[in-house]
This record gives sequence, structure tokens and C-alpha cells, in this order.
Amino acid sequence: MPADSPVVVVANRLPVDQVTDPDGTTRWQRSPGGLVTALEPFVAGRGGAWVGWSGSAGEAPEPFESGGMHLMPVPLSEEEVDGYYEGMSNASLWPLYHDVVEKPEYHRRWWDIYVQVNKRFAARAAEVAAQDAIVWVHDYQLQLVPALLRQLRPDLTIGFFLHIPFPPYELFTQLPWRQAVIEGLLGADLVGFQRPAAAANFVQLARRLHDLNTRGNVIEYEKRTVAAKAFPISIDVASFDRLASSEEVIARAKEIRTELGSPDKMVLGVDRLDYTKGIGVRLNAFQELLEDGVVSAPETVLVQVATPSRERVEHYVHMRETIEQQVGHINGVYGSIAGPAVHYFNQSMPREELAALYRAADVMLVTPYRDGMNLVAKEYVAARGDLGGALVLSEFAGAAAELKQAYLVNPHDIAGVKAQLVRALRQEPADGAKRMRAMRRYLAKNDLEHWASSFFDALRAQAEGRAGTSA
Ligand code: ADP
Ligand code: G6P
Repeated sequence: MPADSPVVVVANRLPVDQVTDPDGTTRWQRSPGGLVTALEPFVAGRGGAWVGWSGSAGEAPEPFESGGMHLMPVPLSEEEVDGYYEGMSNASLWPLYHDVVEKPEYHRRWWDIYVQVNKRFAARAAEVAAQDAIVWVHDYQLQLVPALLRQLRPDLTIGFFLHIPFPPYELFTQLPWRQAVIEGLLGADLVGFQRPAAAANFVQLARRLHDLNTRGNVIEYEKRTVAAKAFPISIDVASFDRLASSEEVIARAKEIRTELGSPDKMVLGVDRLDYTKGIGVRLNAFQELLEDGVVSAPETVLVQVATPSRERVEHYVHMRETIEQQVGHINGVYGSIAGPAVHYFNQSMPREELAALYRAADVMLVTPYRDGMNLVAKEYVAARGDLGGALVLSEFAGAAAELKQAYLVNPHDIAGVKAQLVRALRQEPADGAKRMRAMRRYLAKNDLEHWASSFFDALRAQAEGRAGTSA
């Protein structure tokens, strides 16, 4: 592949995932998670290159074109999937960065493989980027890439964006390789975070761990400056709104209600099956409301869609068992011949179906213990062009700082979650419409395009400053 891409995105995953069916045939499907949801429309609109892993171990497919993007697969062996992806990324960094909701494990072998794989991603990006190109590196799996890439290609402008929370000094310093991670990120010209507090944590770590001079959000490092700033990520609001307002989706939303047995109220959860998402919190709250007789099934039902995720990582295996047992218990006690109280789907669903579910739900429950942003909350608001529905949202999701008219909850406080769920179920339509209108007005201005262009403007300004000082 010639070195001719002026804009290169580097992320652990490609926007499509290679899956092998039981008969041995392989096909591509959309990759899970918020990173792909946000980045795909941005890269596709610009004909950019995307360096990433195909989602399966073994040799990488040849580079290919898909949806207006040049996709450059990076291979990972079985051992690398185990050490870099499931180990260091998802059993060390993920829980550490999410407030140690589960205990992180640290293994030197995982770290060594993480370094090796980060080197491979940096080398691939260096190969495909044009002279003076902009390379935008994403997320916790690739924190060493900015510095590695700068060594290989000092001509590049390098941006980094972290999609998940970034912990304070007191937690981050658990990491045995804390200095190497900060040094890796300092290879970028601009390091973007979801929240201002995360950017401040990073600046503080650079100052305290590396003894660097800092001025506000700018760090002086190796004769250049690195800026750290918040850029809250968003979705393609207009296109999601259009999808959810289409005749097909509206008809499907009605059909869903009928298929559910025409309940008076439908409560919805949509997540990757991840322990940070607080799926147990909402099951507990719903179960207690059934026990208290405040709601009854099947007049009120909870629909929980949980995409399978990281299924070989131990904490995920346990949480899935716990959630499925609890769903079984609630349905055993509160279900009836007329139908279950909780409709649980361990499946990934097409976007049209998700849009119809959002449109059908009276209450959307988003209750993570910690979440960088949570795009599901934004999708729900974007889907409610009818101004119906109510959003119950955890204070610990990045989205809570923006969607202030949601029914905010502390997921550790079950009584509070129950109370807010009841308020949301009983809201006056006029009050609900007022809340929804305010959130939609905010989102219309703060959409994906706004996020990406703010990041790029800030990155270019930083790079111009660098060119100015080195001239
Ligand atoms: P995360 O990035 O941690 O997975 P987000 O809420 O930010 O969390 O993003 C999740 C993305 O994955 C959203 O775009 C959402 O629509 C999508 N998603 C979640 N659950 C499903 C599902 N069951 N089927 C298809 N897409 C899903
Ligand atoms: C979150 C992370 C992404 C990740 C996604 C799905 O959105 O921020 O980096 O790609 O979850 O997780 P997975 O492990 O399946 O890539």
C-alpha cells in the first residue's frame, strides 16, 4: 500500500469485524461499541485510511476498500489476542480506568505483548501515512503508539483520543508501567479526553510522574508542547433522527409493543454486556419495584438488549452468568403465562431495530457505574423526534454532564434509582416533552461533526505551533 493517506485513523478495531460461520465461511459485520459508532461516519465521509485489527487471530486480510474507507488490517496472533487485547487492554487497563469497578490484574507478560503490538500498529501507520499527514490514534489499547510513531515519522501531526475515562493520580499510579504509558501519550501533539477532569488528571500525572513544566492544559515536553483537552464525543444526530423517524421504524416500534403483549409501559436497556454498565443495578431496581407492588408485570416490562462482549475475559464470563440467573429469577417469580417481566436478548441487533426499540420505549435506563460518554443515551434522545420517552441516566456517565434534563441517578443508590425510575414512568407528557426538547436542542449543536472538527481544529493549531517553534 503506498504511503499516500493524508488522514489516517488508528484504532484497535477496524469498523468491520471478520466472523467465521459454523460452516467455515467468513464474512464481515459491523464491529461492536461506541468508538466505531462515532468514527465510522467521520472517516467514511472523508475517504480516509483506517488501521486496525480484524477481530480474529491469525494472518491479516489484504488491505481493502469498504464504505468509502481504505481499511488496513493489522494481524494479531492467538498469543497476542490473549496478552494484548484480553489481558493488558481488557483485564488491566479497562477496569483500572473505570474506577476499578472490578479488580485489575497486572502481568509482565501481558505488558510485553502490549508493547510489541503497539509497535506493530505504529509501524503500519507509518507505512501508510503521506508526508506531513495527520494521524489520529484512538483509545486505551494503543496508548504507546503516539511516541512510537513520532520516532518513526517526525513529520506527522499526531492526535490521540481516549474514549474511556482517565483515572486520577491515586488510581493510575497502581499501574506498574505508569511512566511508559504517559510517555507514550506525550508523543501526541494533542491528547483528547471525554471530560475536562480527565484532561486535568493527565496533566497532573505528567507533572508529578515526569517532573514536566505545565501551563494550564499545556505540557512542555522535549522541546515541544502537548495539549490536553476535553472533546465530548457524540453521534451523527441528524442521520439517527432520520432513521428513527422513518415510516418503517415507526411501524416497527408499534409492532414491537404489540409483540410484547401491548404493555402499558416499556422500559429499555441497551448495552454491551460489560460490568461497567450497571445492568445488575437496573435489574435490582426493577425487581424491587415488582416486589414492592409499585409496578406489575406484564403491564410494565423491561427489555434488556446486551451485545456479547469480550467473552473470554473472566470478569465478563462471571457477570453474564449473574445477569442471566437474575433474569431467570425475576421471570420465575413475576412472569406469567401472558409473558415474562424481563425480555432479555444476548444479541447484537441491526441499527434499524435498535432505533425502533428506542422509539417504542417509555423509559430508557442507562445506569453505568462509570462510562467515558455512553452513546446509547445520545442515540435515545436523537431517536425521540416525537418528544416522547424519558431518559434515566447515571451521573457517572460522561453524557450526564451534557444531558442535564435526564432523570439523573447514582447507580450505587438503589433507592434513588427506584425513585427516579418511578418518576420517569409517571412523568406528565408535557414535562417529558420539555426535557426531551432541551436535550435534543443541545445534541443538534453538539453532534459528531462538531466533535471531530473541534478536535481537528485544535490539533492543527497545536501542529502549527510546533512548526513555528522548530523553524
Ligand atoms: P461502549 O462504547 O462502551 O460499548 P456506548 O454506549 O458508548 O458504549 O456505545 C455502544 C454502541 O454500541 C452504541 O452505538 C449502541 O447503539 C451499540 N450497541 C449497543 N448494544 C447493541 C446491540 N445489542 N446491538 C447493536 N448495537 C448495539
Ligand atoms: C468501547 C471502547 C472501544 C471498543 C468498544 C468495543 O467503546 O472504548 O475501544 O472497541 O468498547 O469493545 P471491543 O473490546 O469489542 O473492541
